[in-house]
Amino acid sequence: MSLPSMTLFNNPASPFGRKVLVMLHETGQQNRVTLHPVTLTPTAPDAALNCANPLGKLPALQLADGSVIHDSRVILDYLDQQHVGNPLIPAIGAARWRRLTLASTADGIMDAAVLMRYERGLRPVEKQWDDWFNAQADKIHRALAALEQDAIAELASHFDIAAISLACALGYLDLRLPQFDWRTPNAQLSAWYAEVSKRPSMQATRPA
Ligand code: BEZ
Repeated sequence: MSLPSMTLFNNPASPFGRKVLVMLHETGQQNRVTLHPVTLTPTAPDAALNCANPLGKLPALQLADGSVIHDSRVILDYLDQQHVGNPLIPAIGAARWRRLTLASTADGIMDAAVLMRYERGLRPVEKQWDDWFNAQADKIHRALAALEQDAIAELASHFDIAAISLACALGYLDLRLPQFDWRTPNAQLSAWYAEVSKRPSMQATRPA
C-alpha cells in the first residue's frame, strides 16, 4: 500500500469537508490523504490553514507537489479525475450542468445552515438579527422544496456529486440545527436520505 500523498485541511463538522471525505471513500482514494484537523471560527482563524488557503476556508487539499487546491467543488472535480471508476461528475453536456446545479443548490443549503449556526452559536445575543436568521432558513426551505418536487428521481439514480452534496447538507442540518424540521415537508427527501445514510462512505464520515 502506498503512503498518503495529499493532506486535507478539514474539520469533521464541516459539511463541505465531508463532501470531500465521501468522495474519497466513494472513489476508493481515502488512503491517499492524510487528515490535518483544523478548529476555527470566522473570528478565530487557523494560521496553518491561512498559509494553505489565504481565504482561511475549509476544506483545502495540499497535493503531492505542495500546491493547494480549494474550495470543495474544485477538490471534488480534481479527485474525480484521479480514479478509474465511473465519473461522479459528468464530463460534458446537459447532464454536467444539471448535476452541478443540483450540487450548487446543496452547497447553498450548507452555506445558509453554517451561517445560521454561527449566528446563534457565535454572535453575541444582543447583536443577533432574527430577520436575517429567518431569511437563511427560508432559503433552505425553498431549496429543499424545489429538490423534493423536481429532483428526487435524479438524486436516487446515482450517488454522484449532486447526491453526495445534498446528503452532506442534510447531515449538517441534523448535526447543527436539530430543531430545523426539514423532514415533515419533504417526505421523499427524508426517505432518500435515510437510504443513502447507510452507505459505507456516509457511515465512515459521520461527524461525532
Ligand atoms: C461547525 O462546527 O459547524 C463547522 C466547522 C467548520 C466549518 C463549518 C462548520
